Amino acid sequence: MTRRHEVAFEPDGRSVSVRPGSTLLEASRRAGVSIRTRCGGVAGCLMCKVNVSAEQAASLSPPTQAEIRKLGSLLSEGVRLSCQARAQGDVTVTVPEDPLKAAIRKKLAEQQQEDDWWS
Ligand code: FES
Repeated sequence: MTRRHEVAFEPDGRSVSVRPGSTLLEASRRAGVSIRTRCGGVAGCLMCKVNVSAEQAASLSPPTQAEIRKLGSLLSEGVRLSCQARAQGDVTVTVPEDPLKAAIRKKLAEQQQEDDWWS
């Protein structure tokens, strides 16, 4: 029987068991976690970034040449491309908030503060 790896996605808290070598993007789809992409998983769009802590990084494949070229110094900050990084052990990664959702959430918070001020 092939050993499988558990890939967990924060902040959703969802996880999935995958075959060794599965990309984080493949795992996210199986887990029902939304990671937006535009290039189809060929390191072209940079939309599939995830954050990985230093402790968790050892459970992933080393950065590909495409990641090194595209991410540059972001790699040292724990950013990986989910279409390139492959599970080599149990791992937990964080999916950044969608920029549009973040902007809407910020606007709603500002509006709430304004409403609170007037009441
Ligand atoms: S899916 Fe486009 S860079 Fe990863």
